[in-house]
Amino acid sequence: MLKVETVQEVRDQVAAWKKQGLTVGFVPTMGNLHEGHLSLVTNAKKQTDKVVVSIFVNPLQFGPDEDFERYPRTLDQDCEKLEKQKVDLVFLPSVGEMYSQDGMNTTVKAPEALNSLWEGAERPGHFDGVTTVVTKLFNIVQPNVAVFGQKDFQQWRIIRKMTYDLCLPITIIKAPIERDKDGLALSSRNQYLSESQRKIAPKLFVVLQDIVAAIKSGNELFVNLEDIAKKQLLAHGFDEVDYIKIVSQDTLKPTQEQEAKLVVMAVARLGSTRLLDNICIDDFKHID
Ligand code: PAF
Repeated sequence: MLKVETVQEVRDQVAAWKKQGLTVGFVPTMGNLHEGHLSLVTNAKKQTDKVVVSIFVNPLQFGPDEDFERYPRTLDQDCEKLEKQKVDLVFLPSVGEMYSQDGMNTTVKAPEALNSLWEGAERPGHFDGVTTVVTKLFNIVQPNVAVFGQKDFQQWRIIRKMTYDLCLPITIIKAPIERDKDGLALSSRNQYLSESQRKIAPKLFVVLQDIVAAIKSGNELFVNLEDIAKKQLLAHGFDEVDYIKIVSQDTLKPTQEQEAKLVVMAVARLGSTRLLDNICIDDFKHID
């Protein structure tokens, strides 16, 4: 596995592969890798000849009160895991390699209609930081395919829309959520849970599944379902429910449209840890 730190080294290697007619898959990460990230790599490996992973804790997507400095950096372990997965190249840029230090960086704005909702509303500026860094990484790596996790559904949706709007010639893949045996979606944040919080955490997936079952059995009183789900989460011991919403996969807004693709998204808090999860429903049929 090649480990490189400069934009030029990535460009040279990718150009050499492309000259040989090989395709390139890309998985951007912020490190602290777990099985969820590794499943994105497996996904990319199935689709392309070579796979590039980036590890870069992107300061631009952290708010002033968020944990950029404290974000876990586990580079040696991450590289060991990627080596085992037979990743071809890992890109480990410094902040200086990615951003000019004169405070005059050009940025890419996430589309407002998708950015003003849910995580975008909760974390102002976050998705603009994501779209900016992902555009730069796309331009550096120039992959044929890039893989993102469904777990951050809104991020995936925004990146797909951005790729379309900016005519970037890259196929954006949505990889399924990896879960622990008890259903808890894998996340770097799970390590912050206490033993008792860890026992409550899987209930988030249980409640999401209950909503999906109700919708599939014909219940269209979405606001009601969301209300009940919220109460159930609080009764299970969650400290706060930021939102649990049934929305269109396309617009991320509540919808009852005929044959809309839906996603049930939730964010609930255990102490100061925010847990995100979602389930997609691709075959919802509105009953007249
Ligand atoms: O999902 C993440 O880890 C980050 O938002 C990403 C896509 C690597 C951009 O920094």
